[in-house]
Amino acid sequence: MIECYYARFRVPSEGELTPSTKGFVAMSRPKVFVTREIPAVGLNLLSEHFSVDVWTNRMPPSRAELLQRSAGTSGLLTLLSDTVDGEVMDAAGESLRVISNFAVGYNNIDVAEAKSRNIRVGNTPDVLTDATADIAVGLVLAAARRFKEAAAEVTDGLWETWEPTGLIGADLCGRTLGIVGMGRIGLATARRLAGGWGMRVVYTARSSKPEVDIELGATQVDFDTLLAESDFVSIHTDLNPQTVSMFDAAAFAKMKPTSVIVNTSRGGVIDQDALASALQSGQIRAAGLDVTSPEPLPATHPLVGLPNCIILPHIGSATDESRDAMARIAAENLIAGVNGMPLRCQVV
Ligand code: GLV
Repeated sequence: MIECYYARFRVPSEGELTPSTKGFVAMSRPKVFVTREIPAVGLNLLSEHFSVDVWTNRMPPSRAELLQRSAGTSGLLTLLSDTVDGEVMDAAGESLRVISNFAVGYNNIDVAEAKSRNIRVGNTPDVLTDATADIAVGLVLAAARRFKEAAAEVTDGLWETWEPTGLIGADLCGRTLGIVGMGRIGLATARRLAGGWGMRVVYTARSSKPEVDIELGATQVDFDTLLAESDFVSIHTDLNPQTVSMFDAAAFAKMKPTSVIVNTSRGGVIDQDALASALQSGQIRAAGLDVTSPEPLPATHPLVGLPNCIILPHIGSATDESRDAMARIAAENLIAGVNGMPLRCQVV
């Protein structure tokens, strides 16, 4: 049961409605736009409170459709693939109180613009930490042990015999792991690889992390030291003006020729042309990417065809529990925001 922020009446639950009041309440409920079908747990929650407009196509709404469907809404529930800027906020109009992103990252939203308009912005952290760290570890293994080439041998009918020198990959045990961005997912990844494979951990972070140093025997280092010392580099930083293309040709030149790079954060952190060159020339050994820029990465991009680059279609959070939990939190954020309350997970 919630208070409607602009109409001074309580929104009745579905069970309290009679056929004659149903239409009236549907009309008077705050309107929200959900830019894609999210798991039912979230949509059901929203439909108890709002007049919900869901974009049901598999492909995202076009810009024009996003602007049009945002008009007159009190809340938007968006995906990382929706660009939500001042123009969208203008299109929504004065009624817009909250933008709830179905993601932990929110680089798709102009947060400063939202803040200046007193529009709250929410995200869905924590519940995808383990799922995403699992994918990071999976990519470390897949890239180091050449899963892409090995699987292709089987599917392409090229597997002829067991070869003593065939498909030799990199060892993991006892190697040095460089975590770029020791936040929740970085830490979960480091725990897995330090605990499971005995890796030594070095990392970069915005602040010092004495608890991580103690737990993992990890060492905070500067970026260049991390590049020079790591056998495996796993990227977990957010995308912002400081991190965009931080992995460029100069960075790859500082890495070991035997090193493997994995990215589960945002594609824009890597200069992909520089990565393709580094992989082609043997400047680094292999890469595993769950994120690219753009997404999807065109099949013609040089990275796609490289045998030593495995690419997944951004599935870090794609598990039963994570996606359900994300849907619930995103819905709760939207409900709270429309009602002028602090969000469960609030960015601003
Ligand atoms: C996925 O990339 C997310 O930000 O949730």
